[in-house]
Amino acid sequence: MASYDVIIIGSGPGGYVCAIRCAQRGLKTAIVEGRDTLGGTCLNVGCIPSKTLLHASHMLHEAEHNFSAMGLKGKSPSVDWKQMLSYKDDTIAQNTKGVEFLMKKNKIDWLKGWGSIPEAGKVQVGDDIHEAKSIIIASGSEPSSLPGVEVDEKTVVTSTGALTLGKVPKKMIVIGAGVIGLELGSVYARLGAEVEVIEFLDAITPGMDGEVQRQFQKLLTKQGLTFTMGAAVQSVDATKTKAKVTYKLRKDDSEHTVDADVVLVATGRKPFTDGLGIESLGVAMTKRGQIAVDAHWQTNVPGVYALGDVIEGPMLAHKAEDEGVAVADTIAGKHGHVNYGVIPGVIYTHPEVANVGETEETLKAAGKAFKVGKFSFMGNGRAKAVFAGEGFVKILADANTDRILGAHIIGPAAGDLIHEVCVAMEFGASAEDLAMTCHAHPTYSEAVREAALACGVGAIHS
Ligand code: NAI
Repeated sequence: MASYDVIIIGSGPGGYVCAIRCAQRGLKTAIVEGRDTLGGTCLNVGCIPSKTLLHASHMLHEAEHNFSAMGLKGKSPSVDWKQMLSYKDDTIAQNTKGVEFLMKKNKIDWLKGWGSIPEAGKVQVGDDIHEAKSIIIASGSEPSSLPGVEVDEKTVVTSTGALTLGKVPKKMIVIGAGVIGLELGSVYARLGAEVEVIEFLDAITPGMDGEVQRQFQKLLTKQGLTFTMGAAVQSVDATKTKAKVTYKLRKDDSEHTVDADVVLVATGRKPFTDGLGIESLGVAMTKRGQIAVDAHWQTNVPGVYALGDVIEGPMLAHKAEDEGVAVADTIAGKHGHVNYGVIPGVIYTHPEVANVGETEETLKAAGKAFKVGKFSFMGNGRAKAVFAGEGFVKILADANTDRILGAHIIGPAAGDLIHEVCVAMEFGASAEDLAMTCHAHPTYSEAVREAALACGVGAIHS
């Protein structure tokens, strides 16, 4: 038995970042992880591996669609699927080993195995019981199930199985037009699969700005994805190599069946709390099955904290990381803080989609007077030079004070561009502040400035 200041259960971006910050604050820290490698869903079966497949398939798309226009002639590359998967696996290994190195460097013990909390102040891993003044639950999330659908991770897969398919399927059905469905759907579409997305709602990517939703769906349709909207999937019947998906259209209740080689179930994720023993510990939960925490991420059990996907809020690695830092600071007697109003969201398709803050819809619902500054990437020289003129930047600012309230970008490097607006929002900047900041030419960032200019006197290049 060992004694620690802090034990963190779960080594995803929330847990391992929290562990490093705890160590930096001088706390004796251990992290519990049952997987063979550190890094949680994000590094092992989520953000990082999906980025390798998105990158490789985007390169193929460029070769097939834009190389000849640039004067690059010759046969387009063909897909060596085994090699693509090994590129993905190498990238995972580099990242997970990197986290292991960071644990050692910061003198954080890795307690190998699945952890549980028999009582406040104690964490059990295997047969060993360790003591900790503070325990942090950072156990993440898992794909949520869909009634009538049995996942075998071969023919009917979640995002995990979709990263290890035996081959590129001829026909893939994606259930759910959320982030996972569209990122992985576009990977397989680019690799040659016929991809049909079946979505319950009438718009893709729920919660996003309506104009972005419409433009995004148009662009994905142009890339070959097809969408069946307003359709509730009822069941999936699968054999080892084929599946039949049955759905009902909400508008007329009519039932339809479609065949596929692979079905990707991407209908959301739910908190993962199996085996933690939180029921017997008496940890209070929210109605949606998340661990309930107070403003300092503490549960109703003193000394037991929770963060990341297992608590309320967007299931995003960077939200968990920020909470990890804040919890560590709080435990160390400092002031942990997360600004939940400025958490960017990014979809890593091509073009990328990024957002932060309010949407037109949320502002209208709140009855807030706002103005819209919009600028198309068609007016951005750099974007046009690299066949990336599709999409736009939209900035929403307070009609009276000009303070930036939100931003929505669909276009090249949107996931990086959004941070300029995030920083501006953290500083309480006005659209004019952003518009008066000199931006290098020629960069995609100029489109952000132009959108800010469009909130005032007007954009220059539109
Ligand atoms: P999601 O919540 O983003 O989307 C699920 C979609 O499935 C919704 O549009 C919903 O209406 C639809 N749906 C639900 N039941 C259905 C049914 N029976 N028939 C048809 N459609 C149905 O969930 P997703 O994409 O699985 O992602 C899970 C979480 O992971 C999200 O919180 C997401 O933010 C996070 N994530 C974030 C990434 C990023 O930041 N780039 C990448 C991957 C995941």
